[in-house]
Amino acid sequence: MSEKITLGIIGAGRIAHVHAKSLFFHIPEAEVKMIADPFLSPQAEEWAAKFGIKNTSKDYKDIINDPEIDAVLVCSSTDTHAQITQEAALAGKHVFCEKPIDHDIAKIRKTLEVVKKAGVQLQIGFNRRFDHNFKALKDAVVSKKIGDLHMVKVTSRDPGPPPIEYVKVSGGMFMDMTIHDFDMVRFLTGSEVKTVFASAAVLVDPAIGKAGDVDTAVITMEMENGTIAVIDNSRKAVYGYDQRAEVFGSLGAVATGNDTTNTAVFSSGEGVIAEKPLFFFLERYEQAFADEMKSFIAALRNGEETPVTGMDGLRPVLIAAAAKKSLETGKKEPVESV
Ligand SMILES: NC(=O)c1ccc[n+]([C@@H]2O[C@H](COP(=O)([O-])OP(=O)(O)OC[C@H]3O[C@@H](n4cnc5c(N)ncnc54)[C@H](O)[C@@H]3O)[C@@H](O)[C@H]2O)c1
Repeated sequence: MSEKITLGIIGAGRIAHVHAKSLFFHIPEAEVKMIADPFLSPQAEEWAAKFGIKNTSKDYKDIINDPEIDAVLVCSSTDTHAQITQEAALAGKHVFCEKPIDHDIAKIRKTLEVVKKAGVQLQIGFNRRFDHNFKALKDAVVSKKIGDLHMVKVTSRDPGPPPIEYVKVSGGMFMDMTIHDFDMVRFLTGSEVKTVFASAAVLVDPAIGKAGDVDTAVITMEMENGTIAVIDNSRKAVYGYDQRAEVFGSLGAVATGNDTTNTAVFSSGEGVIAEKPLFFFLERYEQAFADEMKSFIAALRNGEETPVTGMDGLRPVLIAAAAKKSLETGKKEPVESV
């Protein structure tokens, strides 16, 4: 492969903007040659030009068929990921695919098979693994600073729910939102989820319930290495995007708090007030998104396995499916094996 990696971006929405910006400002080892989206907006054309992308198209096949393009970033809506990833792999292109690969387990398995046969690299967009706080927790586990791992707690609450139209096609909160937390539990424990028990409710907006989804949940998991993990989710935390975790073991515990725009604390006779957490994922995970893209480009240049593989894309979907089933049955459910 040439020294510089040539990329195509498929989809020109929110997450494509994040990746195009990271590549332009932080990753000189890569260049985006083309971006494609059937609904390419004037705003997207504008930012694409600003981030040095010279070619635009309304047809992603222009990227797939371009022999100069080494790798593709699949940033389109979720229902297109599996098909586009397969086409890109068959054309010999490496793929970075946003999460989730699909909501359908059979489609994911097929996609992974095609990628494997094509012999190309695949990375899945679980960006939180690259967040400075969560990396510190992982380091504490790996270095055995907290001894044997006993418990992991992940708090993940959004500042507000997405539009109802999005909720209807999201695959449900477990598939859409908790999927990142399932990945985080696997990442922090270095182990696989054996069983899942989910409690959930509609406490934020009845319209979410009418759309067949939940907005508040606590999910308990037994890991293969014996660790117990718990995730708590809400679609609405009035104080902002709440992203914290704690790992607890035989020698102690390590916890991380939220990032804020500043650390100023205002104290008065009324009380003590500090900044709210950073607004949402674009702000909180800016550094993580850039580092995930750096790691993808580095894996391609060095011919190494990507740090978040296709299997890492499949497993959280299997966990989400088990969590959904647990809600229906009211019982602890096993996670389907890969
Ligand atoms: N890793 C993360 O934290 C994270 C954050 C946000 C979104 N995502 C994922 O990224 C994907 C996109 O999300 P978004 O927020 O950018 O959505 P978005 O709606 O802002 O953008 C999606 C874009 O894909 C385009 N598109 C649809 N079909 C296409 C096709 N066949 N070819 C090319 N483009 C096509 C749409 O026109 C739209 O512009 C989703 O799968 C989502 O789950 C991941």
